[in-house]
Order: sequence, then C-alpha cells, then structure tokens
Amino acid sequence: MVSSAPCTALPGRGKSSFTLQRCLLGIFLATLAFLLFTLSDACVLPPPFQALELVGKPKPYYEVGEEVTYRCKKGYDQVLGFLTIATCEPNHTWVPISDDACMKRKCPYLGDPKFGKADYPNGTYQWGAQVHFSCSSGYYIIGKAIINCVLKGENPHWDGKVPQCEKILCAPPPKIKDGKYSFSDIEVFEYMEAVTYSCNKKPAGEELTLVGEKELYCAGNGVWSSSPPQCKVVKCPFPAVENGNQLLGLGKKFSYRDTVVFECIQGYYMNGSTTSVCNGESVWEPPLPKCLKAAPPPNTKPPTISYSVSTSPSTKPPISTVSGYPNPDGPFDDEFAQWIILLIILIAIVLIAIIILCLYRRFQRRKKGKAVRAQYNTYQKSLTTSAEPTT
Ligand SMILES: *[C@@H]1O[C@H](CO)[C@@H](O)[C@H](O)[C@H]1NC(C)=O
Ligand SMILES: *[C@@H]1O[C@H](CO)[C@@H](O)[C@H](O)[C@H]1NC(C)=O
Ligand SMILES: *[C@@H]1O[C@H](CO)[C@@H](O)[C@H](O)[C@H]1NC(C)=O
Repeated sequence: MVSSAPCTALPGRGKSSFTLQRCLLGIFLATLAFLLFTLSDACVLPPPFQALELVGKPKPYYEVGEEVTYRCKKGYDQVLGFLTIATCEPNHTWVPISDDACMKRKCPYLGDPKFGKADYPNGTYQWGAQVHFSCSSGYYIIGKAIINCVLKGENPHWDGKVPQCEKILCAPPPKIKDGKYSFSDIEVFEYMEAVTYSCNKKPAGEELTLVGEKELYCAGNGVWSSSPPQCKVVKCPFPAVENGNQLLGLGKKFSYRDTVVFECIQGYYMNGSTTSVCNGESVWEPPLPKCLKAAPPPNTKPPTISYSVSTSPSTKPPISTVSGYPNPDGPFDDEFAQWIILLIILIAIVLIAIIILCLYRRFQRRKKGKAVRAQYNTYQKSLTTSAEPTT
C-alpha cells in the first residue's frame, strides 16, 4: 500500500522519466556505436556512382583489407587502366575508384549529308547526345533536323535517319492581268532568282500602275517572296482641304504613292494628319485632314509637321525630342540660377555686416556714455570732497 502510493500519485512523472531514460540510453548506444566504428578499422560503402554498380549485396560496414567489386552499368564500357575493385584502407577510406572507370557507349558516327552539315553540339556521339543537321544555302531539309543517340537495351542507337538536302526550286510566279514579268520563258527558278513585274501600256488615256511588290524572288522551295503585284488605274480624288493650304504635292493628277501635305490657315486647327498618300485603292491614306475653327482643346499639342516627300512615307522616322537628351536651355538656366544664389548670398553678407556695424556703434556709444557719466560722477564727487575740507 505504501509503495504503490507514489506510483499512482505521479503516473505522468514516472512515465516521462522512463522515456527520458530510454532516450538517454539510445544516445549513449549511438555514441558508443559511432566510437566503436571510428575506433575500429572499418569502412562504409562509398557513395553510389553514375557509371558503376556494386557486384553483390552491400554490407553496413567492411573490415580493413576487405574488397568490394564494381562493374560498369548498362550502356557503359570499362576503360583500361582504371580499377573497379576497391579495398578498405586503415584510415577508413577506399582506395579510390571513380566514374572514369566506365565510359558511355557511342552511337555510330554520322557524317555530313550531301549538300549539308552534321553538328555535334554536345561534342560527343555517346548516348544522350544529339546531332543537328542543316543544309547549305539553296537547299532545304527533308527529314528530322535533330536526332538523338539513345540507349536501347545494352547498345545505343540513333533515333532517326540522316536527313536529305534537296535543291530549292520554284515554279514560275503567277501571271497577272494587264502585266508581265521578266524571264517569263524560264520554267524552273532556283533559290534567290528574281523576276520583275511591269504593267502593259494602254493604248490611250488611263495609265496602269503597278501596285504591290515589283520584284519577287524564289525564297524557299516552291515559295515566292511575296504575292504578285496588280496593274491598276490608280487615281485619287483632287485633294481639297477647306481653310487649308497645300504645301507639297501640288499637281493635277494624283496617282499611286503621290503625297500631299497640308496646313491650316490662321484661326483654324488641324484634325487629322498633315501628310496623306494616294494608295492602291485610289484613296488618300490617312484621310485628308480637316481644318476646324475654334480654339483647339487645351490638351492638344501643337502639331509637329513632318514633310515627307519621298514616295514611301514611312521611311523617315518622325521628328521627336529624345528624352534624356541634354536640353539646350539647360546650361543657361543653371548659370542663371547660380548667379541668383550668389547675389542672394552677397546681399545677406552685406545686411549682416550692416547689422553688426549698427550694433557695434550703439555699444560703443553706450560705453562712451557710461564713461562720460562716470567722469561726471567723479567730478561731482571731487567737488563735494574738495568742498568739505574747506569748512
Ligand atoms: C588513406 O590511405 C590511403 C593509402 O593507405 C591513401 O592513399 C589515402 O590518401 C588516405 N586517405 C586519407 C583521406 O587520408
Ligand atoms: C546536347 O546539346 C543540346 C543543344 O545544345 C542540349 O539541348 C542538350 O541538353 C545536350 N545534351 C546533353 C546530354 O548534354
Ligand atoms: C477629329 O475628328 C474625329 C473624327 O473625324 C473626331 O472623333 C475627333 O474628336 C476630332 N478631334 C478634334 C480635336 O476635333
């Protein structure tokens, strides 16, 4: 009864001390095992290799002098002169063996295809590597451009065939209505060979304009650089802008790619673009501007007029102020500000000097006054003292 009392009274405490004991025992045993291992002449297995595998089953530790044998994994060949047997040394290390002992097997070397090139970007043709094929200029590839050396079972092989390089050829380009192209008698065009289109002369009146690309070249196998042009009568309406002045492109007839430039007369502002070009559909592009009365909205910037008279309006970059470029007014403004600051400093110095001077003067005066008063007092005193003895 007496002995059971503390056990039942403190069951939790007894339990926790028990687990603590177990824990301490575990730590002790682990330390002992570690000490035994480090003091004993034993080795544990070296870390696993990429190219090598252990022959037989691994053991937790090996005694000094014991040997372990490795062999090359699948897809690897042994390299002569490298060990695959390791011995446990007295300093608990293995006489080193390494991945260098086994080398990946190679796929058969593939040469350049005819009119093309084979590249080995991995610098090897072992399994895992790639070959990239490309064809010479004027030839196109038939087949896979990239093939891989892959391991299948014991031996690696390429997962594709060497592609072929075929000559790029084009059939004659399309014929067009009211026009023709050069070299029309040729039936097969080679890579980069070009033809030039032109429009037929109409007997009278309306002139035909070539709209689109004038020159086409064989850009790929059976592919021309662009669609053929058209021969059309292009005649844009006379450009008239009310309350505007035409600055450039004056004329009577307005045909393909003709350009006009407008400005608005004083008191009017422009809505639209200053420059318009006659397009292949006989339409001004962008539409001719409008000159509107009344003040422009407060947030509209004054239009920057760019005169572009070239036939292709988009060749010239728009005139713009590049941000971050030194502002030409900058240095002047800086100098001006410096002068102002200097002036302010000078004025301040002068003011301070004047104040100091005034204060000094007043101080001096007061001192003088005191001195005079003192003199006067002594004089008075001397008068009274000199008067006393006379009595
Ligand atoms: C262990 O001993 C072997 C030869 O007995 C030696 O080659 C190796 O460098 C030693 N290793 C270390 C870590 O001291
Ligand atoms: C082989 O080179 C290609 C291209 O540079 C790369 O994408 C690929 O990962 C490389 N393969 C190996 C195994 O290094
Ligand atoms: C310019 O005209 C377009 C339509 O032509 C209109 O939407 C726009 O508000 C006009 N802008 C001004 C500033 O009048």
